[in-house]
Amino acid sequence: MKYAAAFLGVVIASLLTIAMLFTAGWVRPPILGQQAGFRGLGMEQLTTPAARRKLELANVPPDAIPMPPAEGPKATEVYKNVQVLKDLTVVEFNTLMAAITTWVAPQQGCAYCHNTDNLADDSVYAKKVSRRMIEMTRHVNTDWKAHVQNTGVVCWTCHRGNPVPQNVWYDNVGWPQAAGFATTNYGMGHPSAANGSTAMTQDPYGALADKNAVIRVQATKALPLNSNGASILSTEQSYSLMIAMSQGLGVNCTFCHNTREFGQWPESTPQRLTAWHGIQLARDLNGAYLTPLKDVLPANRLGPHGDAPKLDCATCHQGANKPLLGVSMAKDYPALGGTPAK
Ligand code: HEC
Ligand code: HEC
Ligand code: HEC
Ligand code: HEC
Repeated sequence: MKYAAAFLGVVIASLLTIAMLFTAGWVRPPILGQQAGFRGLGMEQLTTPAARRKLELANVPPDAIPMPPAEGPKATEVYKNVQVLKDLTVVEFNTLMAAITTWVAPQQGCAYCHNTDNLADDSVYAKKVSRRMIEMTRHVNTDWKAHVQNTGVVCWTCHRGNPVPQNVWYDNVGWPQAAGFATTNYGMGHPSAANGSTAMTQDPYGALADKNAVIRVQATKALPLNSNGASILSTEQSYSLMIAMSQGLGVNCTFCHNTREFGQWPESTPQRLTAWHGIQLARDLNGAYLTPLKDVLPANRLGPHGDAPKLDCATCHQGANKPLLGVSMAKDYPALGGTPAK
């Protein structure tokens, strides 16, 4: 009897150890490390050959549909209701329609955005949304080179063949609480995928829609009287955002920071500055383009608080340090503001 109990104990302990290895994110070696900072600082990105391969496969761009030379009549001369793509010729216009279809609605086809009896008709909401999307894509490629360089974006960067991109977020003020001072706890204490399974706020993205949100939370002076006055809540929000940014890019904190001193810019990598522009870019797109679409979208597309879906770093990056691992699709589409390769 005694032996049986001891044996059972050993079996349970072994099973628990195995389970722990797997739940703690154990990965099979070899581990590939890439150093970013000076030697000895541990500023490294770690991955495995299998994870790297998986990332590469997920980021193979679709074949480009070549844009024809800009010859022949303008689209505005032939079509009845062209409001944005006024600069294109008819052949360019049609080629772009074909490309957009494969990027956003490959299964549904032209009918996803069009009343196929009358292509000039604007009754399908997806067409009205797309007009704004075309303007947004041109805006990113021409006005946000500080972040996207000449690599740029096209519809595929975010959509990858889905009418609604896989990575979008809605306002989330936390779980329903008892009344009183704890009415809203911003989801604290409820680990979720968005906050990296920590107990920090479940709404990491708020600062990507609110231009006035303060991300810098570290005190710059010793005495609290002189500190920047960041609360525990805003500190947790910043850390949640940092976790979401890291996950969105598939990197760890040392991709941007020397963890000796997170706030220090001179000790940070150049990527941190690019990321800073990325935060301003996300705020601009969410504020000027996506949030106002709540009036155009049908109710089933809105979040629990009636807001339109918004973007974060993962919407473009999808787990890669550069979207599509740095391949430029936009260079083939000057019609979307892309910069042609030299
Ligand atoms: C993802 C949405 C979307 C898809 C899919 C799409 N279109 Fe369009 N289409 C638009 C938008 C937006 C406009 C208006 C562009 C503008 O105002 O500059 C438009 C306008 C047009 C027009 C001009 C109609 C007129 O008289 O004003 C034609 C023709 C057209 N599309 C053809 C097609 C064809 C053919 C397909 C399928 C191969 C297609 N579109 C698929 C969004 C889409
Ligand atoms: C930077 C990322 C990004 C790019 C680039 C982008 N989109 Fe979107 N798109 C989104 C997000 C986020 C949503 C969800 C928000 C919404 O519907 O308002 C969306 C929604 C849409 C929808 C609505 C789908 C539905 O059924 O609700 C259409 C249609 C669409 N996009 C078309 C396009 C087209 C066409 C292009 C290229 C000209 C494009 N998008 C480029 C991020 C992007
Ligand atoms: C892709 C780059 C990037 C990654 C990865 C990243 N950060 Fe940041 N971090 C930034 C930027 C940019 C700022 C400054 C934001 C601002 O000034 O508005 C910042 C600010 C901070 C601050 C506030 C500094 C201050 O001045 O008060 C802390 C703390 C911080 N990050 C921690 C982290 C942690 C922890 C991680 C990993 C979980 C992380 N960061 C991952 C880019 C990054
Ligand atoms: C509209 C799409 C889009 C959004 C949204 C976006 N990025 Fe980017 N990002 C890009 C593109 C495209 C590049 C590649 C530019 C290049 O080729 O150098 C890039 C590059 C970067 C780089 C440089 C990576 C490297 O290896 O040097 C960092 C860091 C970065 N983004 C951080 C962020 C962060 C953080 C966010 C969210 C706050 C964000 N990005 C949101 C499109 C986007």
